[in-house]
Amino acid sequence: MDNSLDVFRRELVAVEGIPLIWSIAAQWSQVESFEARPDDLLISTYPKSGTTWTSEIVDLIYHNGDAEKCKRDVIYNRVPFMELIIPGITNGVEQLNNMQSPRLVKTHLPVELLPPSFWKNDCKMIYMARNAKDVAVSYYYFYQMAKIHPEPGTWEEFLDNFMAGKVSFGSWYDHVKGWWEKRRDYRILYLFYEDMKVDPKGEIQKLLTFLEKDLPEETVNKIIYHSSFNVMKQNPNANYTSMSKEEMDHSVSPFMRKGISGDWKNQFTVAQYERFEEDYKKKMGETTLKFRSEV
Ligand code: A3P
Repeated sequence: MDNSLDVFRRELVAVEGIPLIWSIAAQWSQVESFEARPDDLLISTYPKSGTTWTSEIVDLIYHNGDAEKCKRDVIYNRVPFMELIIPGITNGVEQLNNMQSPRLVKTHLPVELLPPSFWKNDCKMIYMARNAKDVAVSYYYFYQMAKIHPEPGTWEEFLDNFMAGKVSFGSWYDHVKGWWEKRRDYRILYLFYEDMKVDPKGEIQKLLTFLEKDLPEETVNKIIYHSSFNVMKQNPNANYTSMSKEEMDHSVSPFMRKGISGDWKNQFTVAQYERFEEDYKKKMGETTLKFRSEV
């Protein structure tokens, strides 16, 4: 049987109202009962917000800037994607169960779907957020190349779905606000992609303080270098080129696409921009959470 017909380009399936990749929804009880350990570090993001970048930085920090040690394996094995279960391809829960501590754990789940053991164990969590318009554009290209998603349709259609929260992992607006509120009560370091672009040294220092680690400036400079877009784009252990073409087709759009802030200006029409901004005010008007859409 052709596995690709079974697994790829299927419609999303909602769990508690959040649209998820169908196979995650199908195996939801496994995800929900995931057992976090107190020394787990959770890297949480809405998709396309700099997950891979943050993961590489944190792995470099854990290994004192030793880039060779971070080439021991591909990023999705060093920092397993907890909830990603695809029959015959991957099972993040099993992968993590078999992993020694201390573990780095990736998730895209909104707070209401995070397995309760993370809250119970008071795990440290890093949340990386990116402005909505750049996320929407990046997600549109990612949908095209990563075939586990449904077909994205036209950009106009995709943007409508994004604004309505009808994309994998649901509403960006609810996701960023949900994690922003949780940081009041849990050990969550809330970071922004745009800040990391402008001042990687300052942001890495925040990470070091959060992780109670002290590294010399020379090591921090090495981390900045090895986690820079151009270096990561060339690094087969960070750029996802190790995945099969059936899963991710880099000839459609590379995973390491542009790595900039403000690319939305090349994608949005004026009419789309105006509609987006009006809707954004309604959804984000009440929160203290503020984003920069360009740097
Ligand atoms: P673009 O599609 O805008 O280029 P995620 O890892 O959450 O899926 O996010 C992917 C996005 O982060 C892509 O954005 C990718 O290019 C960008 N990215 C990956 N590594 C990066 C880095 N080292 N610096 C800046 N952006 C990076």
